[in-house]
Amino acid sequence: MAAIPSASLEPALEPPDARAPRAVLFDAYGTLFDVYSVGTLAERLFPGLGERLGALWRDKQIEYTRLVSMSAQRRSFADCTRGGLRFAARRLGLDLGAAAEDELMTSYQHLAPFPENRDVLESLKVRGIRAGVLSNGDPGMLGEVVRHAGFSALLDPVLSVEPTHRFKTDPATYSLGTAAFGLAASEVLFVSSNCWDAIGATWFGYTTLWINRSGLPLDELGTEPTRIGTTLADVLAFFPS
Ligand code: LAC
Repeated sequence: MAAIPSASLEPALEPPDARAPRAVLFDAYGTLFDVYSVGTLAERLFPGLGERLGALWRDKQIEYTRLVSMSAQRRSFADCTRGGLRFAARRLGLDLGAAAEDELMTSYQHLAPFPENRDVLESLKVRGIRAGVLSNGDPGMLGEVVRHAGFSALLDPVLSVEPTHRFKTDPATYSLGTAAFGLAASEVLFVSSNCWDAIGATWFGYTTLWINRSGLPLDELGTEPTRIGTTLADVLAFFPS
């Protein structure tokens, strides 16, 4: 006798949204806000090298967060960001100068959101699904980038890892999200465009969505996020209406 495919039994056993997450937690930089949008300003300041400066800056910023966390050092995210910028400029042989440095650092508070993000956040709000942020960013810079994008009324809570004195992917940082929502990790959908962040959150126990905007390969760590998407709109598929 042919086996009945198990998928065909699922709707009869439970309502379609029985396992839908109860809240959503977004990463900020790279996920809600385009860190490479600084490239436009960088290109104006350093023609021909803006894109490389933006990419190297981001890599060094993240490398520094990991380095200080692993060595139990204390640095703010702004320190890691400024240090990453200075290194990236020197690596490319650029004379950064105080004015350009300040201009680029300020631009980090005004990063462009990805185009679909407002609609997705508004849709979650309309459906009564709580949506917040959990980010490496310092509270000040995080508050400012959220406010500048006009997302303040759409995101609550906006959590910085700062109180843990650690950066992602330390489990202490991810536990801020479950504590704030008062939910188990599996009940919360954690969304990140940074594969390493999506995997760190998966290890913590969150239901996860990696938004693979640029078609990158999955990190080879033996762990997959719950789902992989291509834009923030893929969040909505977790909440069948
Ligand atoms: C953040 C960085 C990792 O917002 O993108 O936490």
